[in-house]
Order: sequence, then C-alpha cells, then structure tokens
Amino acid sequence: MISAIQRLVLSVFLILSINVHGEKLSYFDESLPSEKRVELLMNEMTLDEKIGQMCQFVGEASDIDFDSKDTKSNYTLALGARAGMIKEGKIGSFLKVSAYQEANILQSLAEESRLKIPLLIATDAIHGHGMYMGPTTIYATQIGLAASFEPELAELMAEYTASEMRATGFHWAYSPNVEVVRDARWGRIGETFGEDPYLVTEMGNAMVRGYQGENFDTPTNVIASAKHFVGGGIAYNGVNGAPADVSERTLHEIFFPPFVGSIENGVYTIMPAHNEINGIPAHAHHEYLTDLIRGEWGFDGFYISDWMDIQRLESAHKIVDSEREADKVAVLAGMDVHMQGPGFFENVKSLVENGEIPISRIDHAVSKILFAKFQLGLFENRYTNKQFVENTLLKDSHLELALKTAQKSMVLLKNNGVLPLKKDLDRLVITGPNADHQALLGEWARVQPDNNVITVLEGIREQYPKGTKIDYVPIAQHHKITRSELSKVAKAAKRADVVIAVMGENSLRFDKNKTSAENVDRPTLNLIGNQIELLEKIKASGAKLVVVLVNGGPIASEWLTENADAILEAWEPGMFGGKAIAETLAGKINPGGRLPITVPRSVGHLQSFYNHKPSAFHRGGFYLSSRKPLYYFGYGLSYTSFEYSNLSVPVTMSTDDNLSFSIDITNTGDMDGDEVVLIYINDKVSSVTTPVRKLVAFKRIHLKRGEKQTLNFTIDNKNFALLDRYMRSVVEPGEFEIIIGDRVKVQTINVQL
Ligand code: BGC
Repeated sequence: MISAIQRLVLSVFLILSINVHGEKLSYFDESLPSEKRVELLMNEMTLDEKIGQMCQFVGEASDIDFDSKDTKSNYTLALGARAGMIKEGKIGSFLKVSAYQEANILQSLAEESRLKIPLLIATDAIHGHGMYMGPTTIYATQIGLAASFEPELAELMAEYTASEMRATGFHWAYSPNVEVVRDARWGRIGETFGEDPYLVTEMGNAMVRGYQGENFDTPTNVIASAKHFVGGGIAYNGVNGAPADVSERTLHEIFFPPFVGSIENGVYTIMPAHNEINGIPAHAHHEYLTDLIRGEWGFDGFYISDWMDIQRLESAHKIVDSEREADKVAVLAGMDVHMQGPGFFENVKSLVENGEIPISRIDHAVSKILFAKFQLGLFENRYTNKQFVENTLLKDSHLELALKTAQKSMVLLKNNGVLPLKKDLDRLVITGPNADHQALLGEWARVQPDNNVITVLEGIREQYPKGTKIDYVPIAQHHKITRSELSKVAKAAKRADVVIAVMGENSLRFDKNKTSAENVDRPTLNLIGNQIELLEKIKASGAKLVVVLVNGGPIASEWLTENADAILEAWEPGMFGGKAIAETLAGKINPGGRLPITVPRSVGHLQSFYNHKPSAFHRGGFYLSSRKPLYYFGYGLSYTSFEYSNLSVPVTMSTDDNLSFSIDITNTGDMDGDEVVLIYINDKVSSVTTPVRKLVAFKRIHLKRGEKQTLNFTIDNKNFALLDRYMRSVVEPGEFEIIIGDRVKVQTINVQL
C-alpha cells in the first residue's frame, strides 16, 4: 500500500512531467510507471500516430527465406505499403506473423518510426502456440481441458504458451474463448469449454491468469483476449457468425458470467463476436461495449474487432451503407483496434477531423493500447533471438504438461468390461480415419513434424511392443470410406480379439478435408460420412469393438452407444494424444474426465443441455425416440468405483449466508483413480423459473485403492440468487436441493429470511 504522502508526490510528479533535476521526462524512462509513460508519449503524438495505434495488419512470411542475408530487404519489399506505414507510425499491431525473424523485422521497421513505438504482435495461441510456423508445444484443446475439470491445467498451459509466444516475439493471445455452447452443430465447440457457465468461467479465469500473470509486466507474460462477446454458441442453425436471438435473462444467466469472470481476473482485451445480438451487431453495441462492460463491469483494457467485422456492419449486417459509417459506428460504440487492413485509418482520420468522432474517444483507445506496450516491457525489449527461441519452445516441462492435459481429458463413455485391454492379447486391429492422423491436434494448430506427435497407432505400438500382433488398416478420409477399405477392415477384424476404431472429426485449420471447425459447422452430430458402416462391419466380425472418438463437438450416435463394447471420448488431445489414449486403453491411466457438454441423441434433439428449465419436457418428448440425451453433462466412467458418504449439509441457512459443508469420498474399487466431485443446486420453488439444477462447485481428486478423503466446500451466497422478474438479483427463501454428482447424494436445505 502506498501512503497518502507518497500518492501526493506521485501525482505532482505525474502532472509536472519533469524530474527532480528539472529535466524533461521521457517515455523511454523505464523507471516511470506505465501510466505516466503513456501520458508523456501521448503528448508527443500526432493524430495520425494515434489512429495508427488502432490499426492492425497481417504479416507476409509465406515465401521468405529467413536464412538468406537479404532477408530484411526481401521481406520489406513483400510487405509493400505496410512497410512504409509502419515507418510512418500508422500501424500499431500485427497478426498472422509466422516466425520470430519476421517479428524482429517488423519491430525494426517500427523502430525506424519517429516515436519508435513497438508493435504488438498477436496470434491465436489457444492450446499452445499452434499457428507459429515451426514446431511448438500443442496441448489438448479447450473442450478436453474442460473435461479434465482441472482449471490448474488450463492456467499452466496458458502460462507455458505465453512463454513460447514471448520467446518468438508475440505478445497477445486471442484467447480464451469463453463462449457457452447451446447448439452442438457449431463447428467451434473444440475451442470452447462447453455448456456450463460456471465451468466455462472457472476455466476462462484460469487461462487469463496463466497468460497475463499478475499484470503482464514480466518478459514471459502476454495479454489475453476474452472472446467472442457474445452468444456465438447459440447462433441460428448453429452457424458460425449467425444472429443470436436470445433473451436478456439467458444472456445474464448463461452467456455473460464467463466474461464477467475474465474481467474480474484482469483480462486486458475483449473481442466482440461476428454476430448480432437481438438485432444489434456486437461490433456496434454501445450499450454492451461501453455502458455494460466498461461502465458496469469495470473493464479497463481495450477491444479488438474480430476479423473484418467492422466492415461487415455494412456488408453483412447492413446497419450502415458505407465502410466509413461502419468505422464510425464501431469506434463510437467503443471499438479500439481494427482487425485488419487498410481503409480504417483514412476513415477514422476524416471522421475525427470532421468532428464526427471526438478526439477523446481516440485518446481513450490509444492510452489503453500504449499501456499494454509499456507494461509488457516492449519499449525496452522488442526483439527476440534464436537462442531464446531454442531454449523455450518444446521445453521438457511444456511437453510433460501436454501429455498431462491429454491424459486428464479422457472421458470413458461406455465399458462392458473390455477395458482396460488385456496385456496378453494375441491380435489387435487398429483402424479408423483418426488412427494415424494429426486431427489429434485440433483447431488453431499447424501440422507438426511427425516426430513431435504421437498418433494413436504409434501409442498403441508403444504399449504392445511384442507379443501382440498389431494389424493396422489405414482409412484415408473421414467423410468417405471406400469399399476396398471397408472390406479390408472386415477381413482383418475377423482374425482379431479386439478392434480399436479411431473415429471422429478433423478440425485441422489448414486441412482442406476438415469436417468441423471455424466456418465448418455440423449438419449432423453423428459420425460424418459412412464411419458407422465401418463400425458395423467390425461388429459383424465378432471381434470386440473399442471406439475412440477424436472430435471437438459431441458425437451423437445411438448405434454407437448400443453396439460398441467400449467408447473412449478423447476430444482433440494434442501432440501426445495418441500416447494418452493408448495408456488409457491399456489401463496405465485410469480415465477420470467428465463430459463438459451433453451428448444429444441426435441433431433433432437440439437444444440439449443439462441445466434446462423444469417444464422443458412436461408435455411430452419425441416421436419414437427418448427425450433423454445419450450422456448428460458431468457423465464419465472409471476403471474403479467411488462411494460418497457423510454429506453434512446444515438444515437451514439465511438468505445472506454462504453454505459450507463436507462430504467423504472413498475409492472402493481395485485401481487408483481420479474422481470429479460435482456440486449442483436446485431452487425447488422460485418466483421465476430456474434450472432443474446448476453447477456451483467442483473438485477433481486422486484416490488410491481404498483411500478416503473428506472434501470441504463453501458455496458463495450469490449462487443461491436468481434474477427476479425485474432482473434484480435476490435470494428467495425456501427449499434448495444440494445435489452431489449424478444425484449420488441429495440433501435439502431450508433458506430462511
Ligand atoms: C476468429 C477469431 C480469431 C481471428 C483471428 C476470426 O475469424 O473468429 O476467433 O481470433 O479470426 O485469427
């Protein structure tokens, strides 16, 4: 804490802009606080230089040989007009920069500008620094991390990712994606934390802390970006960027909380969604961007537009009839940085000169952007070098964590006793489009060198080095398995004890055959193409059928649930996914993940989520089909069993209290294992409708065979609140159910005034 006198001295010093020796202060003086440096720098900036900070452009590395001695001149030539703009101080940040050499050249051009303001370099480093051109550590994607129910993993992953970014000259991660999913057709589920607002919030908060540290002032921190505000997970038809028509209540109860959480954890940038929300495009939403998020929630950083979405106010949303108007509406709504390209600079300049955008709006945006640059230490240290890169990328600790994220994200959906696989199997067949495929890496990752990835086939071979004969039948494509492939699998399966079929999706960003990803949404939730036909052939052979799913969004197949002997949901487990899968099948890892998203019965059963309102099915269900999903949020089997006892919830509490209680968990099976303890509450009778249950706490623990642990929980009072019909947050007296796990233990508590 600083004293009142220190504060006074500091503020006098801030106002004077001279030091004790009477010398003019410089924004290059790193002993000054970032706020002061911002002020000093802004005093020297022209309007052009200010607007320049709000402009982002893409890099140009594709054809450059970074080992040649003419690299800088070749690259500068390729950059064309952008090179001149950097030198004139008209570009503040870059994305799609692919290598550290490129980042260094861009910074050197910026250093040639009048004020020498360094560039912020951004990337979509969401589960590792996956867009970097060159091998980096690739972890499990967000949906798998959510399945681990271990926010600590997400925090460490973001921290390690930040360090790989900084080593390669990047400072800004367009992550975490904290959208809540309500439509499983959306192709971007793999990059989210699933359907539950509490779980998404906890995971998102952890990632923000991991990327930014305390206040992003160390050489290994980056700034994070909570995205996309808001409602991408409930778009028309599940289509990316389509309108979200969603009630104010649902926004407040379901979609807003993760953003509030990120802000409470200091997230420094926010990216609005491509969409419109109830008729107002996110990039023009003054009421949300400025009044709600900045005004009420206290967001203190800056907004980055999503890719070309300001222009789309004209071309897609049609709320204005020119790009100039689009730029005006967006900046007035609160937008600070434009992703990406020309046009914005000239428009904003003329809008300011014409008095249509006040200079105070520009100053506000620029001060926030510059603060990040000072705080990150870029004025002192904008370059990186080969040594730093080599010492940081793929560090042992990062690789260990990559494996751990994969191991912890496995969710066992079905097991009729075939798993763990016997150690003395004679013959095993492995097949399926994902058996030897880098789809394991998921979205926002480039294909990695083969020796940096362990596919499922390689993982299985590692587990069964000799003794067991392993037949591999390759399948070339996800969406079309050929007749000849089908018959080869059928033939091989007849001779096998067990067939491991590795099925699912392909979200690899630069793969032209991807089946699910950004802008590739899912018209079916079943296995794409004729994958089920392949599984039917295996089933008919009489061999045991073990299905491993590699996917982002849930796979809905009743056939699979009924016919497979075991189903392991592996999500997109990253570079060591194949090892983690093989270890799980072999019983070296006991699967302990739980579903972070409901698996519906079919696409026709959408929307399907666990925290629905009580009347959702009070008048019926579906023709010839159960209304129940295949697997609810929170589901997941283990190779061992757990018993819950001694739930000690008090009988009453007041409407202002937090609730504290304990419960004992015992591993009653034959194997050590992890258990995820999930705590839900249900407000039994309420003045407005509330969900049948909602998650309010969770904890993953490891228990050895026979071991017992007492867990203590404190549920914050705010979890008992509802938004009344006037949208006021209140705790209503009455009975609440405390539900542990899948109704393993339920106790009622009376909440009194
Ligand atoms: C995506 C963002 C991403 C941006 C930059 C957009 O299309 O929606 O999530 O950060 O591209 O790559």
